[in-house]
Amino acid sequence: MADESPLIRSLRAAVAAAPGDVPLRLHFAELLLSDGRNDEAVAEAAVALQHAPGDADARALMMRAMGVPQATAPTTPAEPIAPIAPTTPAEPIAPIAPTPPADPIAPTAPTVPTNGFDWDAAEQQVQDLVGPRFLEDPQAADGEGQAGGAAAWDVDAPGSVRLADVGGMEEVKDRLEAAFLAPMRNPELRRLYGKSLRGGLLLYGPPGCGKTFIARAVAGELGANFLTVSLSDVLDMWIGASEKNIHDIFETARRQAPCVVFLDELDALGAKRSRTHHSGLRNVVNQLLTELDGIASGAGNEGVFVLAATNVPWDVDIALRRPGRLDRTLLVLPPDATARESILRYHLRERPIEAVDLGKLVKATEDFSGADLAHVCETAAEAALLDSARSGSVRLITTKDLLGAAKQIKPSTEPWFAAARNVAMFANEGGLYDDLLAHLKRKRKL
Ligand SMILES: Nc1ncnc2c1ncn2[C@@H]1O[C@H](COP(=O)(O)OP(=O)(O)O)[C@@H](O)[C@H]1O
Ligand SMILES: [Mg+2]
Repeated sequence: MADESPLIRSLRAAVAAAPGDVPLRLHFAELLLSDGRNDEAVAEAAVALQHAPGDADARALMMRAMGVPQATAPTTPAEPIAPIAPTTPAEPIAPIAPTPPADPIAPTAPTVPTNGFDWDAAEQQVQDLVGPRFLEDPQAADGEGQAGGAAAWDVDAPGSVRLADVGGMEEVKDRLEAAFLAPMRNPELRRLYGKSLRGGLLLYGPPGCGKTFIARAVAGELGANFLTVSLSDVLDMWIGASEKNIHDIFETARRQAPCVVFLDELDALGAKRSRTHHSGLRNVVNQLLTELDGIASGAGNEGVFVLAATNVPWDVDIALRRPGRLDRTLLVLPPDATARESILRYHLRERPIEAVDLGKLVKATEDFSGADLAHVCETAAEAALLDSARSGSVRLITTKDLLGAAKQIKPSTEPWFAAARNVAMFANEGGLYDDLLAHLKRKRKL
């Protein structure tokens, strides 16, 4: 959208940063509407209604955007962009940027057709809502780890997410307890088992099925800090400094022990990935091996736990999976019935629903990932809202909407299982994928 005004662009970014801010989203929708972009305004109003089902302004805006004549007009549409005007209360937008960075690029916006509207004033106003437009270069902050530059990794204090928050999946929880939590919690036990239990745990399985969520819950169970780094996100940013950054991550974890280091998307380091522009990848893997071996040897690494996750374990560098490193694996499968019910409950908790038959919905969503289930709920909400807008009278989301959405959406885990089947059948060296084989047999997918 190259011809988009800077104001629309800024507001779009602000809405993306604060998706639950209904007044902000309505400002944005108003602006789109006044720009003649009715379809986009409808979509924004629909999202606003999902967050605030009873909101009269959102409903009125939806009707206007759909061209539905209004029986009762709660707001006069005479001045469609009025909410942007300086009288707007600042308070709904304040939390986004407590200290507005002086952005040297913003003020020099090109002149756009104004229609008598004071764009400059409006832009000044939204300037505070928008975060910095560019990340700082992490290498510029040379030497100080994450102290001086944009942090590529965050350490979260011991969180409140516990395994009990993970719905269903009893098998996964039992395995976690036996293979990881019990020995990690108990230093006596660790000493008894020796080096074999010091390595980390690799979570694998189809996307969107709770690996990241479980890792966080494990940190919660251990009462440990949680340091997460998504390797696919950061490798490109780190060119030339990745080894140092890997070392910094583990240094940070040692300082903050007890601490879980969570290496998400570990496959980004895989030698099998044909990302030729990462010729330095080997060095990064070697650095990671050094750190993992350091943790296995114990000295100075008490209280540092390593978890990793991948959707494609067969792309993970095999050296990383040797004994004492990420030698234990845990298959995280699509949520079972209990888990699906709890995930669906969660995603429907703030939506206007009516007598939904969860049992039916749970049956209709076998093999759906957590992310797919969220998508089902959104799609059903959209259908009900568009229906409401069309008929002019708002109705609630029903079982039928949800079952319809479930039918329309294919579980995203299917292609994963197709690929996994081949690996389990033909590349199960050393029994790396025994769990997966057992599951496929159980589901008669072999
Ligand atoms: N068993 C579960 N209980 C509750 N929420 C779940 C469960 N499994 C997945 N989810 C939810 O599904 C979404 C995707 O999970 P995520 O951990 O990001 O998947 P992954 O890391 O495997 O790709 C998250 O919002 C997560 O909270
Ligand atoms: Mg994840």
